Amino acid sequence: MSILPIRTYGDPVLGIATQTIDEIDGKIVALAKTMIETMYRAPGVGLAANQVGISKRMFVWDSGDGLGPRTVINPRILETSGEWTYEEGCLSVPGLSWEVVRPNKVHLVGLDLDGNELDLEVDGYHGRIFQHETDHLDGHLLLHCLTEEQALESRKEIRKIRMQTASATTPTFLGS
Ligand code: NI
Repeated sequence: MSILPIRTYGDPVLGIATQTIDEIDGKIVALAKTMIETMYRAPGVGLAANQVGISKRMFVWDSGDGLGPRTVINPRILETSGEWTYEEGCLSVPGLSWEVVRPNKVHLVGLDLDGNELDLEVDGYHGRIFQHETDHLDGHLLLHCLTEEQALESRKEIRKIRMQTASATTPTFLGS
C-alpha cells in the first residue's frame, strides 16, 4: 500500500492549472493506483493529482455507486444545468465545510486509464465530485466558490486550526 501526503491550502501546487496528459504510460497508471489508495485512506470520495503534488490533469473518485474507484484523464466539463446546494468539504482544507450552490447535472468527458473515451452524465453527489475535482485541476480550491461572508469566516477558521496545529506539533514531526 503506498500513499502520498495530501497538499493543503497555501501550497502553491494547488493554485496552478494542471498539465494535459499526452501519454497514459505506466507512471500514470501507477500514480492513479497510489491516488486511489491515498483517497481511501484520507478518507475521501475524490482526489485530484495536484492534491498529491503532481500537476497533471487527472483525478480519481468513488461516488459510492458500486462501480468502485475510477480514474479520468484530461477531464473536461462540457455542460452543466440545474442548481443544488450541498455542504461541501475538501481534503486540502481539512476540518471545514461550507454550503455551496453549484449546478446539479454535469456532463464530463475524458479518458480512462486504457485510453478509452469516458462520457458521463451525472447529477447530485456524483456531479458535485466532478465539479470539485475539475476545479482542483484548474487550480481552484473550494474557497473560490464561497460567498464573501463564508470566505471571511473561513479565513478565521483556517487561522484558528493552524494555530492549534502549530502548538500541538513537536519537533519529532520530521520523522513522520
Ligand atoms: Ni478538494
